[in-house]
Amino acid sequence: MTIRLVLLGRQGSGKGTQGARLAVHYDIAHVSTGEMLRNAIRNDTPVGKVVKDVIDKGSLVADDLMASLVKGRLGETDARTRGYLLDGFPRTLPQAHALDEITRARPINVVIDLEVPRELVLQRLGARRAAEHRVDDSPEAVERRLALYEEQTAPLIAHYRRQGVLAVVDGVGTPDEVFVRLVSAIGSATGVTARGGDGQSRR
Ligand code: AP5
Ligand code: MG
Repeated sequence: MTIRLVLLGRQGSGKGTQGARLAVHYDIAHVSTGEMLRNAIRNDTPVGKVVKDVIDKGSLVADDLMASLVKGRLGETDARTRGYLLDGFPRTLPQAHALDEITRARPINVVIDLEVPRELVLQRLGARRAAEHRVDDSPEAVERRLALYEEQTAPLIAHYRRQGVLAVVDGVGTPDEVFVRLVSAIGSATGVTARGGDGQSRR
């Protein structure tokens, strides 16, 4: 089975950290919309120019633009043939509906809600701000990002629960502990435990 996975979770829950590890473990594409947008800003592309201020403030980029970026990325050969992990998309109901359309022929097979309480993500983002200076880790932008999560993204949990593809994973603990839980949840949902060097799924 090809894994097509969505990681949901508040800002700072570990989507990027775990997404990178899971992508290696299963040999699938790690599609992080935040990274795509930050690359566009770094390379000063037309998309980068449009989104820079939006991201720095901690607001959300327009749904249509995000859906078209993701549609293009999921149409690339690696994502089509090996599968993928989406990190940071969808984060609004219109985006979830757009994704349902995009994946009609090859549906998402597991959506994980990586649960970490607000107090703990505030600590993690504070530490990252000191270390990496991400502009949107300023206290004001973090406040806005977390509020937008509750308002726009949290309702997706019910959307995917209704579709029967949701798994909830506790994101509190060391990165290694969380990774083991994720692999176990993905194994239960898809039957795939890892992918060997020959590219074959192991069951
Ligand atoms: P995006 O890049 O997706 O950022 P985010 O959602 O705010 O999430 P983060 O990257 O902050 O958190 P994460 O869950 O990935 O945690 P991480 O692993 O980094 O989006 C950025 C912006 O782009 C958005 O605000 C928006 O403007 C725009 N955007 C992107 N997608 C969009 C969309 N679909 N629609 C509209 N706009 C969009 O971990 C956080 C920190 O904690 C790290 O320092 C990490 O080292 C540490 N950490 C991780 N795990 C642990 C652990 N277990 N223990 C201790 N520390 C840990
Ligand atoms: Mg991230």
